Amino acid sequence: MLRKRGSVILCGTFLFITWNAILVLLLWGRPPTGQPDESGRDQREVAERPTSDLVGDVLRMADTFEAELERQKNILLEIQSHQSLWDLSNKDRPKVVLPIQPVIPILVIACNRVTVRRCLDKLLEYRPSAELYPIIVSQDCGHAETTEVIRSYGNKVTHLKQPDLSDIPVQPGHKKFQGYYKISRHYRWALNQVFKTLSHSSVVIVEDDLEVAPDFFEYFRALLPLLQSDPSLWCISAWNDNGREGYVDPGKASLLYRTDFFPGLGWMVLKDVWEELEPKWPASFWDDWMRQPEQRRDRACIRPEISRTLTFGRQGVSLGQFYDKYLRYIKLNNEFVPFTKMDLSHLKEETYKEIFEKEVYSAPVVTYEDVKQGQLKGQGPYRLQYSSKESFKMLAKNLGIMDDLKSGVPRGGYRGVVSFMSRGRRIYLAPPPGWTKYDTTWS
Ligand code: UD1
Ligand code: MN
Repeated sequence: MLRKRGSVILCGTFLFITWNAILVLLLWGRPPTGQPDESGRDQREVAERPTSDLVGDVLRMADTFEAELERQKNILLEIQSHQSLWDLSNKDRPKVVLPIQPVIPILVIACNRVTVRRCLDKLLEYRPSAELYPIIVSQDCGHAETTEVIRSYGNKVTHLKQPDLSDIPVQPGHKKFQGYYKISRHYRWALNQVFKTLSHSSVVIVEDDLEVAPDFFEYFRALLPLLQSDPSLWCISAWNDNGREGYVDPGKASLLYRTDFFPGLGWMVLKDVWEELEPKWPASFWDDWMRQPEQRRDRACIRPEISRTLTFGRQGVSLGQFYDKYLRYIKLNNEFVPFTKMDLSHLKEETYKEIFEKEVYSAPVVTYEDVKQGQLKGQGPYRLQYSSKESFKMLAKNLGIMDDLKSGVPRGGYRGVVSFMSRGRRIYLAPPPGWTKYDTTWS
């Protein structure tokens, strides 16, 4: 018992001495708050060292300690005096702090068709926020009736007018293509307005004869981060070139692809790509120009299984070339897919390429006759092989998908593969395994 009490006292004394020793060391090591002396030198630079005067040292230490406590007390009082202010400003704020959402402007390219109303009405119907999606209508052509229609939307849209309405001198034989020259001039002007004058960092371009789907805005917002982070992508498109009824899987509204073909027709592009293209922007046929290897530079676009735009512009500059055969039958998605709540990381190049190649090249090979006559037994998918430009065109034409190639790339294709539905089965029209690059002479 006695021995125990003795050891407790010993222990306590030891702790007391140690504690004081630590305090002395700490306080001496810490420089006092000082003003520069007359020589202009800050006294803080001179470190204090213990002297042989023990009592004096302890007294000095006590003073320093007291001063320190006073300083701490003042800081606490200061904080307390601001507390009411802080409480007040937090009262009305939501508890969860939302990250700042990027603004995605929608650029509508208009000219002389009053039916731009159909395009604008749908955009306004589905637009979730006027702040996050400002609509900019850029009008070419100076058509009074169309101007009036756009004006009737008041401040719901920003109305810009392309100022140069002059005819464009064209090369001999291109007189009939004057329209394509004007479209190209208009695009350059309008995109410069969006990126340079209005300083936006992204844009979704919509032509006046496009109608958008309910999840059009959701789709682009969800894919913006991917477009920003993946340099092997240069656009997000709302369009599936082979998106006709019967050629898409109606149960796969959330299915997205990468494509080497620039689809246009409702597409998002970033400022840096525009800055790259603008200096060499072509005088005409801007879309086919973008499909050339010098511009595309092996970059891909994202496109949906089921289109998020539909074109109703039969009377257009190209005089309905494809309209009656393909475009008018494109199925517009009608189901809202919550893309922003989905994980889209499988669309990143490396992951996608691997999954896609595996999916396509592990599918059993079938013949054209099997597909055409509906003799396929299982669920699919199936692979139909082509090995020349001629066989591609023959198969595409006979199966009802688009057979034209631009700079060697088939519409909707990725690494030469075109995915579509035929009689309820998934078909991959594909080159032989080991594909490396497009043959740009295929057209
Ligand atoms: C086709 C393409 C279109 C592309 C154009 C340029 C399809 C379905 N359409 O146009 O995406 O932009 O080729 O190669 O593949 N416009 C003007 N100024 C004019 C005439 C037209 O700004 O003088 C505008 C129109 O308002 C429209 C766009 O250009 O927004 C395309 O015109 P359109 O008449 O629809 O031509 P397409 O044949 O569809
Ligand atoms: Mn058109």
